[in-house]
Amino acid sequence: MTSSFPDLFSRRPWRTPGRELPCQPPTGMLGPHETLMLYDLAHEAYTGAGCIVDAGCYLGRSAVMFGTGLAANPAVADKAGRIHCFDLFTLGPHGAAMLQQRGQEARAGDSVRAVFDENTAAVADSLVVYEGDLMQTVWPPQPIEVLFVDIAKTPQLCQRVVDLFFGNLLPGKSIVIQQDYHHGLACVPIVVEFLSPYFEVIDARTDFSHTSHCIAPIPADAFRRAVRYDFSEREQLDLMQRAIDRLPDELRHYLGLAQAQLLHQLGRPDEARRAARVWQQASPPNTSPVDPSNWPRRLQQLDEALARPVDSSDSHSA
Ligand SMILES: C[S@@+](CC[C@H](N)C(=O)[O-])C[C@H]1O[C@@H](n2cnc3c(N)ncnc32)[C@H](O)[C@@H]1O
Repeated sequence: MTSSFPDLFSRRPWRTPGRELPCQPPTGMLGPHETLMLYDLAHEAYTGAGCIVDAGCYLGRSAVMFGTGLAANPAVADKAGRIHCFDLFTLGPHGAAMLQQRGQEARAGDSVRAVFDENTAAVADSLVVYEGDLMQTVWPPQPIEVLFVDIAKTPQLCQRVVDLFFGNLLPGKSIVIQQDYHHGLACVPIVVEFLSPYFEVIDARTDFSHTSHCIAPIPADAFRRAVRYDFSEREQLDLMQRAIDRLPDELRHYLGLAQAQLLHQLGRPDEARRAARVWQQASPPNTSPVDPSNWPRRLQQLDEALARPVDSSDSHSA
């Protein structure tokens, strides 16, 4: 039987120690708990009222988890074309380096579409694939029941995700997983915080993801502001601080880095350095050790960013 949201999110089966994956998904960039969560959502929460969006599907790990969960979901008889996958399918430097570390031949610029198709063959009937730059992708609007965002890697993509997808959420039903929330980019938590009156947080941090449930329609004006990202400096700083204050201490690390980066972007170098120092001196995050080298690497990247002049390409286009 399909679980209700409150039951599923109080059980959080994806956190069960020692739980095995229900399938062998391809390599990817998800933590162990996020990986299981996608399966659990498609298996237990999804009703078929809207589609599942997998925005940023890379080599197919998220798609396979959604597809396998959907295949096991008794509440949805017709599984065809339920999962909409979006990606450039072109390796960036990070994706290429990750595959090289695993002994595979890969270069930035290589197409991985054939690899994605091979990796997702078992669930191919449930997928609709949109290949190309999300900034230009044409997608016929339709209700979205599960929105997984692992593509908001720049401020512009963050705005594009809101524009393309958030108007299609189903109040009372849709679940939004922001995999980019705890990555150090300020715009994601800022937009999430701005839209927080219309969402209920159901899991503040699963590996790097923030998961919430859409509980009310987003008013047209709020939607437009989120798309345009036309927040004053004061609003951005306040929204960022509110997002941090919401979290228990042990989950604040990556938002702390994002706050320091934001202060730098807004031309407040002294405050940025002070904010960074707090996290340089803090104990590393002890939750979800996706990759133990991640935290020191992020601190170093922040250090490098604070030493550079402000890059206008990092700022938002209104
Ligand atoms: C972190 S990876 C996604 C990982 C994936 N969800 C998994 O399960 O392993 C982010 C993806 O976003 C895609 N991406 C980045 N910018 C994009 C853009 N402008 N348009 C489409 N895809 C983009 C990249 O190609 C990359 O595959």
